Amino acid sequence: MAASERLNQWLRDAHAMETQAEQLLDGQRRRIDGDPVFSARLEQHIEITKTQRERLDRCLERRRTSASTLKDTAARVTATAQNFSGFFVEDEVVKGALAIYTFEQMAIASYLILEAAAKADVDEETALAAPWKFIIEALDTVVRDNAAHKST
Ligand SMILES: [Fe+2]
Repeated sequence: MAASERLNQWLRDAHAMETQAEQLLDGQRRRIDGDPVFSARLEQHIEITKTQRERLDRCLERRRTSASTLKDTAARVTATAQNFSGFFVEDEVVKGALAIYTFEQMAIASYLILEAAAKADVDEETALAAPWKFIIEALDTVVRDNAAHKST
């Protein structure tokens, strides 16, 4: 497979990943209603996820390829299953945070790969659409905020 075709494939994978993230976050938002701080954070995360998916869409368009519908559908099913699996758990917020944190670790690794591939293919715009640094900083902020919250 040519390097540029591989980059297209990883762009489609990232698009499917953000589609799955949105389903996962939206499912959690609908289930969690007793925690306003976590709910607000989920809302914010959903908006960021949508914006990121649109950015990837523009990269795919510019590279004259499109998101794989089949893959996106498969991702949606997985996200639904993940939402149901936590249905009767009492510590829902903690389990939810764990699922998101795990998912974001995968996103960081995926975007590191995407950025490296984009740079190799001299596609600076796609390299800039790989926000792994932003995710690391956001996770760091959430952990620190939470630690401060617990100690007061
Ligand atoms: Fe995210």
